[in-house]
Amino acid sequence: MTTARTIFRTRFFNPGAIICAFALLAATCMGSLSWAQMSGTSANAAAHHSDGPWWKHAVIYEIYPRSFQDSNGDGIGDLNGITSRLDYLHSLGITAIWLSPIYPSPQVDFGYDISDYENIDSQYGTLADFDRLVAEAKKRDIRVIMDMVMNHTSDQHKWFLESESSRDNAKRDWYVWRDPKGYDTKGKPIPPNNWISVFGGSAWQWDPKTKQFYYHEFYKQQPDLNWRNPEVEKAMFNTVKFWLDRGVAGFRLDAVPTLFEDEKLRDEPLTGGTNAFGDPNVSDIYTNNLPEVHDVMRRLRALVNQYPGDRVLIGETYLPSVAELDKWYGGAKHDELQLPMDMQVGMINKLDASLFRTRIAQAETRIDGNQPLFVFDNHDNPRSWDRYGDGAHDAATARIIATMLFTTRSTALMYYGQEIGMVTSTPTRKEDVKDPIGIRGWPKEKGRDGERTPMQWNDTKNAGFSTADTTWLPVASDYTTVNVQTEQETPDSLLHWYERLIAMRRNDPTLRDGASAMLDKNNPSVLSYIRKGVNGSPSIVVALNFTAQPQTISLDMQEAGVKATTVKTLLTNEPSLEQTNSLNKITLPPFASWIGSVE
Ligand code: NOJ
Repeated sequence: MTTARTIFRTRFFNPGAIICAFALLAATCMGSLSWAQMSGTSANAAAHHSDGPWWKHAVIYEIYPRSFQDSNGDGIGDLNGITSRLDYLHSLGITAIWLSPIYPSPQVDFGYDISDYENIDSQYGTLADFDRLVAEAKKRDIRVIMDMVMNHTSDQHKWFLESESSRDNAKRDWYVWRDPKGYDTKGKPIPPNNWISVFGGSAWQWDPKTKQFYYHEFYKQQPDLNWRNPEVEKAMFNTVKFWLDRGVAGFRLDAVPTLFEDEKLRDEPLTGGTNAFGDPNVSDIYTNNLPEVHDVMRRLRALVNQYPGDRVLIGETYLPSVAELDKWYGGAKHDELQLPMDMQVGMINKLDASLFRTRIAQAETRIDGNQPLFVFDNHDNPRSWDRYGDGAHDAATARIIATMLFTTRSTALMYYGQEIGMVTSTPTRKEDVKDPIGIRGWPKEKGRDGERTPMQWNDTKNAGFSTADTTWLPVASDYTTVNVQTEQETPDSLLHWYERLIAMRRNDPTLRDGASAMLDKNNPSVLSYIRKGVNGSPSIVVALNFTAQPQTISLDMQEAGVKATTVKTLLTNEPSLEQTNSLNKITLPPFASWIGSVE
């Protein structure tokens, strides 16, 4: 396992994660498959009830607000736009939305540089618009989760403006200020150590006025807060309360493993070679996942627990192993985050049955009975369509990913547009790039614009996203065929595949709560697993052919301690599997997904 320094491991460290531009292929691949119809379920049917907090059975949908729906014609998505699309989300079966940051911000990192934690950026609307969004979402049983950035603020936040004003300002110690190591022969200050920003260059920014450096894990406009100062925790926890009081269901905690840095400022060990920005690659042992962070997480959880309604803490936790991940739950004590993100499964980035089997099984058995949260897609990584697709079987591969998403025991988390097969539309010219890391790293690092393009609603101007002449990022060229409306009208579309899976996931007691076990464990080509029936409900078996060749499998239920006398297909993308009635010698066509019920 690599101990890559960056939090965006996929983007920077997996050469296999090449951003593809299969827009045209996507269009031709869609719509050619069929499957057995599920009887009697629809995505928004009243969900089956079972024990446990809501977040365990949630279907969480990440919205990148700039790109979801523009309501005022300025080419940028906004809160009223999101509110206008709640019926769509409800019909898809979504039960919670996570909004990436909507706070006032200079938008250097598109909202992850917050200048006021207790308001809404005017580009996105007002606090009244936010309250209306929460109320309208509630009417549709959809909860709202905020993104909370605690590692750093904007350099325009009043805390930082005060902090940088003088060495003896009361807030000086709210950020990580250090003297230079010395001065070079030309009188240039030398940074305190070799720490490198995730976004390129030294992580230290010189302030000529006060003659000290400040530390920034990300852009220089995102100075890191000093979490060793208790006042910082107090102030940040107050902002958390502000939103909890306003009715949010919880938070996705941005870059939360990087809250603390080594007090001694030791140099990171060099790991060889250079990154996309030309900096030497360094480890992250002194700047990431320091043990001190767990005390803060326990206190934050205690705060959140004071509120009714099982408010949830989700962590952006790129971690090197499942053992490290378990610590973020608080292990057997369950007293830290309820849902630290597991990036080990969804970011494998190739259809490797053995690796998926191992990682999913680890998430089942090595996290002290906590609830897994697999991440396949987000706003920082090329879309899974491109990371997993081979260019020829992308539509079937997207169905495989969706099947894993909703039939494993993980809480379901998806990213806008995933349900229609939006592709990564990476800029082809540097002058078109909006994400600063793409400008700085071009051409090796082209930035994250590709996975942030506007939502494709229909085949009209700007895909129905905006009436503006130009949108903040261009709409992907495949929108005339890859869009919500077209897919709603196409019976075998990816969108309907998602709807059916989500409905099953929400309604079927076995998929909600059934124990999970791997089947056919030595098969290098097919991933098969069982979810065991609960309180008399039938068990569910899933088989996914990860290869371009047909594969014949036989599944031994005794191995899983389950009796199987009848087998029937619940959902498949392959007509030849619709009548499957035995677990012996099932032949799965290339990249087939099959879900069966066994009793
Ligand atoms: C992680 C966020 O997901 C990413 O978009 C952002 O740039 C960094 N954290 C810095 O806040």
